[in-house]
Amino acid sequence: MKYVIANLKTSMLVDGVENYITGLEKKLIYPNNVFLAISDLYIDRFCKTNHNILAQNMSHLEGKNLTGMTTVEQLKNIGISGVIIGHSEVRQYLHENNEILFEKIKLALRYNLKVFYCIGETAEQRDMRKTVKVIKEQLQYLTGLDQELFFDLKIVYEPVWAIGTGIIPTKEEIEEIVQVIKGIIISENVEILYGGSVNRNNIMMLNTIEDIAGFLIGSAAYNVDDFVEIANTIINDN
Ligand code: PGA
Repeated sequence: MKYVIANLKTSMLVDGVENYITGLEKKLIYPNNVFLAISDLYIDRFCKTNHNILAQNMSHLEGKNLTGMTTVEQLKNIGISGVIIGHSEVRQYLHENNEILFEKIKLALRYNLKVFYCIGETAEQRDMRKTVKVIKEQLQYLTGLDQELFFDLKIVYEPVWAIGTGIIPTKEEIEEIVQVIKGIIISENVEILYGGSVNRNNIMMLNTIEDIAGFLIGSAAYNVDDFVEIANTIINDN
């Protein structure tokens, strides 16, 4: 069954928390396959529900007391299921590079967390026909990982130019990138998700793409009813 991830980013304020939780509880058909990536501020509340909760990032350092960060020990202790690593906003605004991101991946996997590792090219890189090169660089450290780690490590292809723009790649473009990724990570276990402007209007089409194991949904998930509708469509359709 496909994975459905809501990446709620920083969209939520205190007075929206209970409403979101109530909306999920009433209507989600298969909550087991749904993961909610929640701002650190509300993780504790969401972990008290029966839903799978993800952090949106974590520190690459372990066993230290660190100012302004959230550590893997804290996340594990609070009861999360996994973490998003390498989201383009983290790469862009926090300047996290492939090397640091790989440290985070290894650390999270060691703590038995699921990892959703985001990769994808910018509009500029795409225009310069550098998509494959960029993806190879973003995946370079993963090629030596043990095969069984890919049960918990998922790759999310999120072209940066598709995030929050309403523009999505064609079905053929996504299929091509899936093949590129599978050519780099030679593991039968590797599963690839798609993210970037997934919404109620395009999900039926996107859901027909072969070899896509699920979707990461940003802005279309900020409203709980919209998110539930998309999540139920993805899962019902299979
Ligand atoms: P979007 O965001 O669905 O609003 O494009 C996706 C993401 O940033 O993960």
